[in-house]
Amino acid sequence: MDTLTPMLRQYQEIKARHDNSILFFRLGDFYEMFGDDARRASSILDVVLTSRDAGKSGRIPMCGIPYHASEAYISKLIKAGLKVAICEQVEDPALAKGIVKREVIRVVTSGTYIDEASFESRYLIAINFTDKLSALAFTDTASGTIQTNEYATLQSLVEAISKIPVYECIYPQAQETQVKEIFKHPLLRAKNITLSPFEDWCFTSDIAKTSLKEHFHTHTLRGFGIEDMPLAISASGALLEYLKQMHKQPIRHLHKIALYADAEHAFISPAACYGLELEGLLAAIDHTLTSLGKRKLKEWLYHPLKSKEEIIKRQRAVTLLRENPHVCQELGKLLQNTPDIEKSISRISCGTGSARDLMALRLTLLKQPDIEKTLRALKSENGLFHLEDVPQIRGLLAKAISPTIPLSHPEGNIIAQGYHEELDGLRDIRENGKNWLKNLQEQEIKRTGIHSLKIGYNQVFGYYIEISKSNLTRVPQDYIRRQTLTNGERYITPELKEFEEKILTAEGKILQIERRLIEEIFKIILDSSEKLSVFSSCLARLHSLYSLGILSVTSGYSLPEINDGFVIDIKDGRHPVVEKSISEPFIANDTLLDTDTNHLIILTGPNMAGKSTYIRQTAILVILAQMGSYIPSTSASIGIVDKIFTRIGAHDEITKGQSTFMVEMSETAGILNNLSERSLVILDEIGRGTSTFDGLSLAWAISEFLAKRKVRALFATHFHELTALSEEFPGVKNCNVSVKEWNDEIIFLHKIVPGGTDDSYGIYVAKLAGIPKEVVKRAEGILTRLELSGNLQEKITNRLPAENQLLLFTRDKNSIAEEIKNEINDLDINALTPIQALNTLHTLKKKIESNEP
Ligand SMILES: Nc1ncnc2c1ncn2[C@@H]1O[C@H](COP(=O)(O)OP(=O)(O)OP(=O)(O)O)[C@@H](O)[C@H]1O
Ligand SMILES: [Mg+2]
Repeated sequence: MDTLTPMLRQYQEIKARHDNSILFFRLGDFYEMFGDDARRASSILDVVLTSRDAGKSGRIPMCGIPYHASEAYISKLIKAGLKVAICEQVEDPALAKGIVKREVIRVVTSGTYIDEASFESRYLIAINFTDKLSALAFTDTASGTIQTNEYATLQSLVEAISKIPVYECIYPQAQETQVKEIFKHPLLRAKNITLSPFEDWCFTSDIAKTSLKEHFHTHTLRGFGIEDMPLAISASGALLEYLKQMHKQPIRHLHKIALYADAEHAFISPAACYGLELEGLLAAIDHTLTSLGKRKLKEWLYHPLKSKEEIIKRQRAVTLLRENPHVCQELGKLLQNTPDIEKSISRISCGTGSARDLMALRLTLLKQPDIEKTLRALKSENGLFHLEDVPQIRGLLAKAISPTIPLSHPEGNIIAQGYHEELDGLRDIRENGKNWLKNLQEQEIKRTGIHSLKIGYNQVFGYYIEISKSNLTRVPQDYIRRQTLTNGERYITPELKEFEEKILTAEGKILQIERRLIEEIFKIILDSSEKLSVFSSCLARLHSLYSLGILSVTSGYSLPEINDGFVIDIKDGRHPVVEKSISEPFIANDTLLDTDTNHLIILTGPNMAGKSTYIRQTAILVILAQMGSYIPSTSASIGIVDKIFTRIGAHDEITKGQSTFMVEMSETAGILNNLSERSLVILDEIGRGTSTFDGLSLAWAISEFLAKRKVRALFATHFHELTALSEEFPGVKNCNVSVKEWNDEIIFLHKIVPGGTDDSYGIYVAKLAGIPKEVVKRAEGILTRLELSGNLQEKITNRLPAENQLLLFTRDKNSIAEEIKNEINDLDINALTPIQALNTLHTLKKKIESNEP
């Protein structure tokens, strides 16, 4: 290290404290990276890798990026899974003795990064666990709340994590091994979460409690409902500590801890979120105009309501907007182009607030009165239309922040004219210096009567008044001589000196005063961050309601009736996403489910008929209804659902690496173990990932279980044998999707009709998909033989062992093999000519081919 240049020695010292981050080392107008950092970053960022003289130890790899464009580079590194420590010069280079002092001012990590490009939340979570209990705490950089809860099993912890858009997870270093194990779970593996071990002491519950109480200025945590949850407290405390350490700031916008209460919402299992393609559904129903609104709508979709009153309250608000299209339109205009103020508030709180954030807040807050006025036209008492007002901050920003900040060079132009007298004066000088001098010149000419009096400027003496020789007698007393020329004298006056002082320092002072004022404003904003956060969540809610209002006027949408009963009765329901994506008309279908005589629908039907579409559509319409939305149907009545489970095949793709069947069965186990009487279960082809007999037996047993529990369930299956269940259980109903056979062709009618079916038409679909003719033909042959070989359904209903079935095929094959074996045994190889040998081989091959099933 001694052989390094002093600057690189400073670099090494700082780097040693941040060895798990890429260190951005500020050098003039650049952030430089050295050594391994430079090697890694240059390839990710696509910048040139050079090297720098490192003193006696030779040269060291280096690359750099201009500081003013750093955001884009930071974003790339974060998305590549790295952390970035930003090291700034913390003293004025002009005043520094020796090497300029440098410090890391913040560390950007995956979970603390505020992503401008995406509307999504980026959550950071902390987890902690003991033998008996586990806890998580999480926060989104853009919201002001830490949410936390404890879980009795690791499985529930995993499920909770899998439902949150987590980017980074911190945990006690000592639990590294267990944590790595947990994140191998199929539900988490695909999420690519950055794992950041964190100091164990931060997870000590006493320390955590003290630091939380300090942060929230409270004596107890009782008000947050987590006083008696030491593990949740420790996770929350560690989370806060981590944020403080990364941002090197007190994170003032975090203003509360809330119990992560999933109890208020219908639970959509993680597999269901995926299987029902909620992401695509969101895109199909989204009419929000900003990221703030879109985040809220997504939250509503993933967290449907469970209380009848609350759903109806939302429905009423949406209906009111639907019935007042002018108001709705006006509201849309006002909400449009509102910036993401949640992100602005948190940036200010994390010490990275900028002119843009102040402008965003100003612009948004100023809309408040207009939005309020627009909503008043609805004459509604509905609390959902409430918009929190923050008049002081609004007034302050309206007065203090300039409405037109040039964002390319905001410095010195952020504070509005008329807010600060001294600043106005300085700007005046900066902008009107010439005018002022002209005025002074005129004034002095008048005062002295010297018409040739001139004001000028030079580098050495600054501003001066020049008087020619012939007029020297008329020079006033207060003029101070500075310089003698051949044909005159140059003077200054206190007034001119003061002006000079002012104009030369104006720019510096403008920046200084402005910085001070902005700091003050930031502080006032943070003092009100709680109210501001209420304001922004009201705004987001209005936006979401607006979006549902627009959706409600889509043709063919109706308002479902919501009740506390158990009947789901949908007339002419349609799948909102499939309906949009196909060119031919979508065939509407009814759904009737209850917990009495119609609770398990066994849906059979050919491939491509629309089974999956239909069963998913039912779940999707229930979710939409419970989020307060209108739904694609002519009418519907929904008995509230509290949990939605699905087991849908498509899930396999994202869980590569784990056996398909294993995933299927563990998901199914999750469903069966967590059912409640209000659940809705959607099963798509359970049991297809194993041998037919295993699969069928499992599907049968699972259906029986559901049938006995009288849970509302839809089961799409190719096991026609299951239709026999309806004979045993009166609540089980068979339905199938009708098709029409016509001239060797099959027409899919997509209509759900009562009764089971035997036909699969799988081979027909294969033909449609372009499978070669010879393969299709061969498959048809095989199918015929299989169909002749016995009736599986009979075997199951009569509880006969299925082994006989297997013997049917095997005996056949074996007898041919036996025959051929004997023939070969009888051959005298020495007596055969080559031609004879070939012929014999040919005959044997023929025999095998003609006997193959
Ligand atoms: N009600 C409907 N109206 C119009 N088209 C539909 C309808 N339902 C489904 N379809 C069309 O049929 C296609 C296949 O539907 P789906 O995947 O639901 O069939 P499936 O019966 O589950 O087939 P498989 O047995 O192969 O899984 C859909 O992609 C859609 O284009
Ligand atoms: Mg299907």
